Amino acid sequence: MPKRIPLADLPPGEGRTIEVDNQVIAVFNVGGQIHAMDGICPHAGGPLGDGYLDGNLVTCPWHGWQFDVTTGACTFSPDMVQGLCGVTITGNEVEISAPAE
Ligand code: FES
Repeated sequence: MPKRIPLADLPPGEGRTIEVDNQVIAVFNVGGQIHAMDGICPHAGGPLGDGYLDGNLVTCPWHGWQFDVTTGACTFSPDMVQGLCGVTITGNEVEISAPAE
């Protein structure tokens, strides 16, 4: 089941960690555009949704790997790509679907 969260909970320039269908998902607001992806860092499992967001780059809070939240790609290893989630804005809410397995 997709999950809905209020847009007001996700101000521009911020990220959140949520759970969708028992998967950890990172959600970000980049200048008003909402992006969501697999929220578990492939390095050692850090919570990407709790990382520092600068433009469209998030820095993992554990050891600093960086990912483009619009594509899911790791900056230094573009072959490493986080699964992207479906995002639908409806009124004042954003609906997020887990990435396809
Ligand atoms: S767990 Fe993310 S950089 Fe190490």
